[in-house]
Amino acid sequence: MSLLIVRNDITKMEVDAIVNAANNSLLGGGGVDGAIHRAAGPELLAECRTLGGCETGQAKITKGYRLPAKYVIHTVGPVWNNGRSGEAELLRACYENSLRTAVENNCETVAFPLISAGIYGYPQEEALEIAVSTVRRFLLSREEELTVYIVLLHRAEFLLKSERFAEICRRIDYMDNMDRMTNLSTANVISEKRKSFINPLAGLKRKQSSEVFGSMNLESAVQAEEASPTLEQALEQIDESFMEMLLRKIDERGMTDVQCYKKANIDRKLFSKIRSDKYYRPKKVTVIAFALALELSLDETKDMLMKAGFALSHSSKFDIIVEYFISHGKYNVFEINELLYAYDQVLIGA
Ligand code: AR6
Repeated sequence: MSLLIVRNDITKMEVDAIVNAANNSLLGGGGVDGAIHRAAGPELLAECRTLGGCETGQAKITKGYRLPAKYVIHTVGPVWNNGRSGEAELLRACYENSLRTAVENNCETVAFPLISAGIYGYPQEEALEIAVSTVRRFLLSREEELTVYIVLLHRAEFLLKSERFAEICRRIDYMDNMDRMTNLSTANVISEKRKSFINPLAGLKRKQSSEVFGSMNLESAVQAEEASPTLEQALEQIDESFMEMLLRKIDERGMTDVQCYKKANIDRKLFSKIRSDKYYRPKKVTVIAFALALELSLDETKDMLMKAGFALSHSSKFDIIVEYFISHGKYNVFEINELLYAYDQVLIGA
């Protein structure tokens, strides 16, 4: 049960069903409709002729013919009229009715283009918001195993312009500058080393300071040895595992397992694997997905990550984005994934 935003040509998607942004006639057109008909071959148009058109917001299914997808679900999005003609409700209906049609036809994987966001003129960012929130609501309300892709043909630069993300974008841009500065200072270190080759005094100074540092280390090592337990004692005091912490937090939050893994956008099979192995080592993105689903504080998130052998680092864009959202009490996986996607990072729950 997951929602992924990917960049691809939808006609190449190997899924059970792709959704077509069609028109009321269902007899083909431009944009993604044209691309789907070209890739599927003339048999698709022949079947479409038998359907008697389609109302805006409704959906009808055909076979996929020469496409890698088994089915095409044709839906008709609203034409954008400055939001004055119930466009948002109609667009939501497109996603809901297409998903319902997919489930009725036992599809487990479905790919959507951004319906109405091309020729029909719906503002892309709002169209994406509606796509994500509608699919999300649908997935949370159903028991069926369903993976939904929102397929964007072009890199979604428009995401970066979003006001919502303005602050975090500035932070990341700042980090990019820091990266450049770090590279510069690495170059400085190298030239320092070269200098010490030429000037033996520079090398000596470094050696002395490292000796002082060394003796301090020795002292603290002795103290540590006196206080430290034996290996056996230490092993007996082994801390709560990741799996144990996860289950404890689910209970503390008054959630069921199902509610938790669905909200985390995590597959049921993966969750059962974790549940059945006390020392399961999850991937970092999986830990983050659970932390978000459980709405953990930043400290709790760091604790859970540590139990799985990870940390949040300020040298990683992924980590900065995640930390930003959690520390602002924002836990919407789909919203975070939009931003991770925009920065070419691994998506959560993928
Ligand atoms: N793969 C993924 N996305 C695509 C592809 C592709 N191959 N091609 C285009 N898109 P549009 P609409 C994106 O115009 O706005 C047709 O003539 C595109 O970038 O295809 O609902 C129909 O017959 C955009 O984000 O559909 C209707 O008359 C999104 O798909 C009318 O256009 C939708 O753009 C429907 O207009």
